[in-house]
Amino acid sequence: MAAPPLVGRNFLKLLDFTPGEIRYLLDLAARLKADRRSGRRGRSLAGKSIALIFEKPSTRTRCAFTVACVDEGAHPEYLGKGDIQLGKKETVADTARVLGRMFDGIQFRGFAHRTVEELAAHAGVPVWNGLTDAWHPTQILADVLTVREEFGRLDGIALAYAGDGRNNVARSTLVGGAKLGMDVRVVAPASLHPEPELVATVRAIAAETGGKVTVTDSVEEGVHGAHAIYTDVWASMGEEDKIAERIALLKDYKVTRRMMELTGRPEAIFLHCLPAFHNLETDLARQFPEICEVEDEVFEGPQSRVFEEAENRLHTIKAVMVATLVG
Ligand code: CP
Ligand code: NVA
Repeated sequence: MAAPPLVGRNFLKLLDFTPGEIRYLLDLAARLKADRRSGRRGRSLAGKSIALIFEKPSTRTRCAFTVACVDEGAHPEYLGKGDIQLGKKETVADTARVLGRMFDGIQFRGFAHRTVEELAAHAGVPVWNGLTDAWHPTQILADVLTVREEFGRLDGIALAYAGDGRNNVARSTLVGGAKLGMDVRVVAPASLHPEPELVATVRAIAAETGGKVTVTDSVEEGVHGAHAIYTDVWASMGEEDKIAERIALLKDYKVTRRMMELTGRPEAIFLHCLPAFHNLETDLARQFPEICEVEDEVFEGPQSRVFEEAENRLHTIKAVMVATLVG
């Protein structure tokens, strides 16, 4: 397949990409993964410098960008919350123009999606969204690569996301699933259903791609026939004051062995973007023992693919950088 022209593009949300462009990124990620596994490292980003701006904490995204840079010969520079003036003492536009003169690409993780759009508008180099309150597009590339590795295809594969249907991961899953012709479902209480405008948008996309979109508060309906059940924390970063309220709303949407059985597919897999609450071995879980969005038995069980999924963050993020910087 001829490479689509992604050089110079930003990667802010999946709505900006065609199904063919997303498939190209997945194929490139699979190739880069195979190369790395066989001990081959590329030099495709040699001599490039990459800025990694983080307003929020991160393990996987930060490490994936860093290791992907080093694998391909680029220099990553971490710019944490307290390190730069972004939006506090210097406008986002000014910071973008400075970084764009020194770096070849900029990753941003933070709160307002508007910030990453502002960076992209002014940097003059590719800007990649490593998570905002609205979207988490690099995550979904890793998720669907994991699903494709498991089932050999994506079209017609049923992916059921259970939990907070309004968060960055749920919203991005809907878009990615619809773009790739999947049978994508969001299973959540009505007050946490994705915004109607977004549902209308993804239904229109699915009508073009042969995909299917379901939004339901019924666990039985939502997970029946699912090849994969996906969940995320019930309170995202910045929503720590909502933990008690979310536990009350979402306790019936916890991923359990019974929910996995309700798929009717013994081969169904469990996905989680991580970090996850699945036991009481974290400070927050000790403080809120009902916070776990997944049973330990499922998280640690034979259907779980969460660490394959986490590794795929590296290969897919590398693909995004290579495709947008050098093609
Ligand atoms: N899934 C994910 O984005 O993980 P981090 O928050 O650790 O980057
Ligand atoms: N929805 C979560 C995803 C973390 C990777 C959050 O925003 O905190």
